[in-house]
Amino acid sequence: MIGRDLNKAAKLLNEGKVIGIPTETVYGLAGNALNLEAITSIFKVKNRPFFDPLIVHISDLSEAEEYTTGIPEPLLLLAEAFMPGPLTLLLERRPVIPDLITSGLPRVAIRVPIHPVTKALLSILDFPLAAPSANPFGYISPTTAQHVADQLGDQLPYILDGGACQVGIESTIVGMEEDRVVVYRKGGISIEALQSFVPNIEVKLHSQSDPMAPGMLQSHYAPSCPLIIVDEFDIREYPDKKVGVISFNRKVTGVPEAMQYILSPNADFGEAAQRLFGAMRHLDTMDLDLILVKLLPEKELGRAINDRLRRAASR
Ligand code: TXA
Ligand code: MG
Repeated sequence: MIGRDLNKAAKLLNEGKVIGIPTETVYGLAGNALNLEAITSIFKVKNRPFFDPLIVHISDLSEAEEYTTGIPEPLLLLAEAFMPGPLTLLLERRPVIPDLITSGLPRVAIRVPIHPVTKALLSILDFPLAAPSANPFGYISPTTAQHVADQLGDQLPYILDGGACQVGIESTIVGMEEDRVVVYRKGGISIEALQSFVPNIEVKLHSQSDPMAPGMLQSHYAPSCPLIIVDEFDIREYPDKKVGVISFNRKVTGVPEAMQYILSPNADFGEAAQRLFGAMRHLDTMDLDLILVKLLPEKELGRAINDRLRRAASR
């Protein structure tokens, strides 16, 4: 059931239940991060392997003290600039954080959402919320309450509606390795934006560094329909196929309008990010044989969008 009742959401979370919640990035599947039963249900509902750890959402960065041993200076600079917002910090955890949350890893992922509904919810709870994206493992992340209901509705007692997500792709995940800041997932804060505060930033996506661990498995964010990355849209190459197209800003000739999805007519990366997962979901309902897509310019949020497209294509 979808609704806007904060008290109902809080009541269910207090009882250890798992519900859908909005954030500015994507919808989350939330439960009490300090309650093992709630955490276990999150993994079950999502059908997520236990080796893939969960992000802990808090209402204010000052609460990080309770759950971590501190914030190194370079990350503090980034936190001051981008939190609350679509940035997640990997910080050394305190024992109060259950092993299940971090999959036994020494660091815990901490995020402070800026969505007003998420903030209001966190402020009336006396525990932090563990929340992965509210999609079945490996599928596209949801950016509306209805997306959550479509796939997980029958397993959730409640989905708190906060409208369509403004950012539309997941948070950027950063941490330290020795004295370097490392980006582990490209997301809603671009690398260029991070670099304006901390010049030396390394990008090390999980799938490159450690295929066994932390999330970011190569195939991810994938629609059921095969998605192919092309250099040019030339649908003559697929004569007997029903082809759909995701395009950054231009119309594609030769493809019926209903089967093309233009992310941002004004070539705005923010708007494209906001609409990306909705585009994949929409085309995935159209009984197509193929979805063709061209990568965006590899800069700013284009990088995070391209990352999602490559993963969606790598099934
Ligand atoms: O924007 C977001 O971050 C959304 C919203 C709901 O907050 N959440 C989200 O969670 O995208 P999820 O679980 O779908 O992706 C979290 C990623 C996973 O790839 C996971 O492996 C990584 O964060 N992660 C979480 N905790 C970690 C840890 N302790 N060490 C390394 N990676 C971690
Ligand atoms: Mg996810």
